[in-house]
Amino acid sequence: MLNITVLVSGGGTNLQAIIDAIKSGTISNAKISLVISSRKDAYALKRAEDAGIGTMVISRKECADSSDYENKMLEALKAAGTELIVLAGFMTVLPESMINEYENRIINIHPSLIPSFCGKGYYGLKVHEEALKRGVKLTGATVHFVDKGCDTGPIIIQKAVEVEDGDTPEILQKRVMEQAEWKILPKAIDLIANGKVTVRDEKVFIM
Ligand code: GRF
Repeated sequence: MLNITVLVSGGGTNLQAIIDAIKSGTISNAKISLVISSRKDAYALKRAEDAGIGTMVISRKECADSSDYENKMLEALKAAGTELIVLAGFMTVLPESMINEYENRIINIHPSLIPSFCGKGYYGLKVHEEALKRGVKLTGATVHFVDKGCDTGPIIIQKAVEVEDGDTPEILQKRVMEQAEWKILPKAIDLIANGKVTVRDEKVFIM
Protein backbone atom coordinates (compact mmCIF):
# COMPACT_ATOMS: atom_id res chain seq x y z
CA MET A 1 0.00 0.00 0.00
CA LEU A 2 1.62 3.23 -1.19
CA ASN A 3 1.79 5.80 1.57
CA ILE A 4 1.02 9.29 0.24
CA THR A 5 1.44 12.77 1.68
CA VAL A 6 -0.43 15.50 -0.22
CA LEU A 7 0.84 19.10 -0.09
CA VAL A 8 -1.75 21.83 -0.60
CA SER A 9 -2.21 25.60 -0.37
CA GLY A 10 -5.73 26.32 -1.56
CA GLY A 11 -9.17 24.98 -2.27
CA GLY A 12 -8.09 21.38 -2.52
CA THR A 13 -10.26 20.21 -5.41
CA ASN A 14 -7.39 18.05 -6.66
CA LEU A 15 -6.99 16.61 -3.16
CA GLN A 16 -10.73 15.87 -3.21
CA ALA A 17 -10.37 14.09 -6.56
CA ILE A 18 -7.68 11.86 -5.01
CA ILE A 19 -9.75 11.17 -1.88
CA ASP A 20 -12.79 10.27 -4.04
CA ALA A 21 -10.71 8.07 -6.37
CA ILE A 22 -9.30 6.09 -3.44
CA LYS A 23 -12.81 5.67 -2.03
CA SER A 24 -14.25 4.49 -5.35
CA GLY A 25 -11.33 2.17 -6.11
CA THR A 26 -10.18 4.19 -9.16
CA ILE A 27 -6.91 4.41 -7.23
CA SER A 28 -5.88 1.09 -5.72
CA ASN A 29 -3.00 0.14 -3.40
CA ALA A 30 -2.65 3.66 -2.00
CA LYS A 31 -3.67 5.68 1.03
CA ILE A 32 -3.24 9.33 2.06
CA SER A 33 -1.56 9.41 5.47
CA LEU A 34 -1.07 13.13 5.79
CA VAL A 35 -2.05 16.45 4.23
CA ILE A 36 0.34 19.35 4.76
CA SER A 37 -0.86 22.85 3.99
CA SER A 38 1.30 25.94 3.57
CA ARG A 39 -1.64 28.06 4.78
CA LYS A 40 -3.83 27.58 7.80
CA ASP A 41 -6.88 28.99 6.00
CA ALA A 42 -6.71 26.55 3.07
CA TYR A 43 -10.09 24.89 2.46
CA ALA A 44 -8.14 21.77 1.52
CA LEU A 45 -7.57 21.22 5.28
CA LYS A 46 -11.31 20.92 5.84
CA ARG A 47 -11.58 18.39 3.00
CA ALA A 48 -8.82 16.30 4.59
CA GLU A 49 -10.42 16.48 8.04
CA ASP A 50 -13.81 15.46 6.64
CA ALA A 51 -12.12 12.42 5.10
CA GLY A 52 -10.47 11.53 8.41
CA ILE A 53 -6.95 12.32 7.19
CA GLY A 54 -4.34 13.83 9.51
CA THR A 55 -3.35 17.43 8.73
CA MET A 56 -0.49 19.79 9.49
CA VAL A 57 0.22 23.41 8.63
CA ILE A 58 3.83 24.24 7.84
CA SER A 59 4.28 27.78 6.60
CA ARG A 60 7.62 28.79 5.12
CA LYS A 61 7.05 32.32 6.38
CA GLU A 62 6.59 31.20 9.96
CA CYS A 63 9.83 29.19 10.01
CA ALA A 64 12.99 30.80 11.37
CA ASP A 65 14.93 30.19 8.13
CA SER A 66 15.14 27.82 5.19
CA SER A 67 16.86 25.05 7.13
CA ASP A 68 14.19 25.23 9.84
CA TYR A 69 11.54 24.86 7.09
CA GLU A 70 13.44 22.01 5.50
CA ASN A 71 13.78 20.18 8.82
CA LYS A 72 10.12 20.58 9.71
CA MET A 73 9.01 19.29 6.30
CA LEU A 74 11.37 16.31 6.26
CA GLU A 75 10.49 15.40 9.83
CA ALA A 76 6.74 15.45 9.06
CA LEU A 77 7.16 13.45 5.84
CA LYS A 78 9.26 10.82 7.58
CA ALA A 79 7.01 10.55 10.63
CA ALA A 80 4.10 9.83 8.26
CA GLY A 81 6.11 7.15 6.44
CA THR A 82 5.71 9.01 3.15
CA GLU A 83 6.57 7.08 -0.02
CA LEU A 84 5.01 9.48 -2.54
CA ILE A 85 4.57 13.26 -2.22
CA VAL A 86 1.76 14.77 -4.29
CA LEU A 87 1.80 18.53 -4.89
CA ALA A 88 -1.85 19.43 -5.42
CA GLY A 89 -1.91 23.20 -5.83
CA PHE A 90 1.07 23.66 -3.49
CA MET A 91 2.43 27.20 -3.76
CA THR A 92 5.78 27.01 -1.92
CA VAL A 93 9.05 26.12 -3.66
CA LEU A 94 10.41 22.86 -2.22
CA PRO A 95 13.84 22.80 -0.53
CA GLU A 96 16.47 21.09 -2.67
CA SER A 97 17.22 18.55 0.06
CA MET A 98 13.62 17.35 -0.13
CA ILE A 99 13.83 16.96 -3.90
CA ASN A 100 17.05 14.96 -3.53
CA GLU A 101 15.69 12.78 -0.76
CA TYR A 102 12.48 11.99 -2.69
CA GLU A 103 13.88 11.74 -6.21
CA ASN A 104 11.17 10.52 -8.61
CA ARG A 105 8.81 10.26 -5.67
CA ILE A 106 7.31 13.76 -5.87
CA ILE A 107 4.63 14.54 -8.45
CA ASN A 108 2.97 17.81 -9.39
CA ILE A 109 -0.11 18.80 -11.37
CA HIS A 110 0.36 21.77 -13.71
CA PRO A 111 -2.58 23.35 -15.56
CA SER A 112 -1.10 23.45 -19.08
CA LEU A 113 0.46 21.13 -21.62
CA ILE A 114 4.13 21.40 -20.59
CA PRO A 115 6.38 22.85 -22.10
CA SER A 116 3.77 25.50 -22.94
CA PHE A 117 2.88 28.07 -20.29
CA CYS A 118 5.05 26.71 -17.53
CA GLY A 119 8.12 27.68 -15.52
CA LYS A 120 8.74 30.66 -13.29
CA GLY A 121 5.70 32.90 -12.84
CA TYR A 122 3.26 30.49 -14.47
CA TYR A 123 0.89 29.46 -11.74
CA GLY A 124 -2.83 29.68 -11.02
CA LEU A 125 -4.92 31.90 -13.29
CA LYS A 126 -1.80 33.39 -14.91
CA VAL A 127 -1.33 30.16 -16.89
CA HIS A 128 -4.81 30.44 -18.41
CA GLU A 129 -4.48 34.19 -19.01
CA GLU A 130 -1.34 33.58 -21.05
CA ALA A 131 -2.92 30.69 -22.99
CA LEU A 132 -5.85 32.94 -23.96
CA LYS A 133 -3.50 35.82 -24.80
CA ARG A 134 -1.56 33.57 -27.18
CA GLY A 135 -4.79 32.31 -28.73
CA VAL A 136 -4.05 28.59 -28.42
CA LYS A 137 -6.91 26.32 -29.41
CA LEU A 138 -5.83 23.49 -27.14
CA THR A 139 -4.52 23.62 -23.62
CA GLY A 140 -4.70 21.03 -20.85
CA ALA A 141 -2.88 19.69 -17.82
CA THR A 142 0.29 17.75 -17.05
CA VAL A 143 1.31 15.48 -14.19
CA HIS A 144 5.09 15.32 -13.88
CA PHE A 145 7.80 14.29 -11.46
CA VAL A 146 9.41 17.18 -9.64
CA ASP A 147 13.09 17.83 -10.19
CA LYS A 148 15.23 20.83 -9.26
CA GLY A 149 13.92 22.97 -12.12
CA CYS A 150 10.55 24.68 -12.37
CA ASP A 151 8.07 22.37 -14.18
CA THR A 152 10.98 20.57 -15.89
CA GLY A 153 10.72 17.04 -14.47
CA PRO A 154 9.77 13.86 -16.39
CA ILE A 155 6.20 13.99 -17.73
CA ILE A 156 3.90 11.20 -16.56
CA ILE A 157 0.50 12.02 -18.13
CA GLN A 158 -0.96 14.88 -20.15
CA LYS A 159 -4.53 15.57 -21.23
CA ALA A 160 -5.65 18.16 -23.76
CA VAL A 161 -8.65 20.45 -23.28
CA GLU A 162 -10.22 22.65 -25.95
CA VAL A 163 -10.29 26.42 -25.63
CA GLU A 164 -13.71 27.80 -26.56
CA ASP A 165 -14.89 31.15 -27.90
CA GLY A 166 -15.70 33.53 -25.06
CA ASP A 167 -13.47 31.76 -22.53
CA THR A 168 -12.24 33.85 -19.63
CA PRO A 169 -9.23 32.68 -17.57
CA GLU A 170 -11.68 31.58 -14.86
CA ILE A 171 -13.88 29.58 -17.25
CA LEU A 172 -10.87 27.95 -18.86
CA GLN A 173 -9.32 27.14 -15.47
CA LYS A 174 -12.54 25.37 -14.42
CA ARG A 175 -12.73 23.35 -17.66
CA VAL A 176 -9.07 22.31 -17.38
CA MET A 177 -9.66 21.15 -13.81
CA GLU A 178 -12.85 19.23 -14.60
CA GLN A 179 -11.74 17.65 -17.86
CA ALA A 180 -8.07 17.09 -17.14
CA GLU A 181 -6.60 17.73 -13.67
CA TRP A 182 -9.13 15.78 -11.62
CA LYS A 183 -8.73 12.82 -13.97
CA ILE A 184 -5.01 12.60 -14.66
CA LEU A 185 -3.75 13.24 -11.13
CA PRO A 186 -5.64 10.22 -9.67
CA LYS A 187 -4.68 8.20 -12.75
CA ALA A 188 -0.97 8.94 -12.27
CA ILE A 189 -1.18 7.99 -8.59
CA ASP A 190 -2.89 4.71 -9.46
CA LEU A 191 -0.19 3.88 -12.02
CA ILE A 192 2.59 4.65 -9.53
CA ALA A 193 0.87 2.76 -6.70
CA ASN A 194 0.64 -0.30 -8.92
CA GLY A 195 4.28 -0.21 -9.98
CA LYS A 196 3.56 0.74 -13.59
CA VAL A 197 5.75 3.84 -13.84
CA THR A 198 9.48 3.83 -14.40
CA VAL A 199 11.86 6.69 -15.13
CA ARG A 200 14.77 6.17 -17.50
CA ASP A 201 16.98 8.88 -19.00
CA GLU A 202 14.65 11.49 -17.51
CA LYS A 203 11.66 10.07 -19.38
CA VAL A 204 8.67 8.20 -18.02
CA PHE A 205 7.71 4.76 -19.31
CA ILE A 206 4.30 3.32 -18.44
CA MET A 207 3.87 -0.42 -18.48
C1 GRF B 1 -4.82 23.75 -9.86
O1 GRF B 1 -5.21 24.46 -11.00
C2 GRF B 1 -3.43 23.21 -10.03
O2 GRF B 1 -3.16 22.82 -11.32
C3 GRF B 1 -2.62 24.42 -9.69
O3 GRF B 1 -3.30 24.99 -8.59
C4 GRF B 1 -4.68 24.68 -8.65
C5 GRF B 1 -5.05 24.00 -7.37
O4 GRF B 1 -6.41 23.86 -7.17
N1 GRF B 1 -1.25 24.09 -9.52
P1 GRF B 1 -6.97 23.02 -5.95
O5 GRF B 1 -6.39 23.59 -4.65
O6 GRF B 1 -6.58 21.57 -6.14
O7 GRF B 1 -8.46 23.22 -6.00
